[in-house]
Amino acid sequence: MVFDIYTLVEVTWILFPIYAANGLTPVMMRFLKGHPIDNGRMLGKNRLLGDGKSWEGLFFGTFMGIVIAVVEMLAFPYLPWDLSPVALSIIIMTPLVGFLLGFGAMMGDVVASFFKRRMNRQRGALVPLLDQLDFLAGAFLMLSLVVVVEWGWIILGTIITLVFHVIANVIAFKIGVKKTPW
Ligand code: CTP
Ligand code: MG
Repeated sequence: MVFDIYTLVEVTWILFPIYAANGLTPVMMRFLKGHPIDNGRMLGKNRLLGDGKSWEGLFFGTFMGIVIAVVEMLAFPYLPWDLSPVALSIIIMTPLVGFLLGFGAMMGDVVASFFKRRMNRQRGALVPLLDQLDFLAGAFLMLSLVVVVEWGWIILGTIITLVFHVIANVIAFKIGVKKTPW
């Protein structure tokens, strides 16, 4: 079953480090001038990756993934797992798992930018689905190196991420942080 509360708990546990990596990096990079990963290099008539992909962002996002995974690792013994009538497949958080989730998220995002530039979309141009799911795909791919990733997590994680994205943008629009509700 995918649409049950158990899968929801299992996937939320995995999403925290991923969202921290992907969501906090743009906030952090507002205060920093990053060094572009592509070093300004071109491929054809477009940038290889663009100024939106910096070493600082890659490093910070990966680091945030590790930090949140360690917080979960330390919190694990104190959480009320016995409330669940069935045994949950909660993945064991370690700094390595945090690294894989954070780095995977950031690399998924880098790969997406590579393809966006090849499609002649410049920095910041919206490509629906790719923009919202690149980091999730990258994180799950890296996680699969050390954990058997369940399809339910991927399906529910995708749905949650898309819904979360819509809600977050509408709120950002209403409070005036964004000019458009998408
Ligand atoms: N960012 C960064 N380095 C990364 C990833 C993100 O510095 N490796 C920062 C950049 O300031 C970027 C912002 O986070 O502008 C938002 O990330 P994203 O939406 O992925 O980048 P875009 O600017 O939209 O560029 P692209 O079109 O390449 O996705
Ligand atoms: Mg973008």
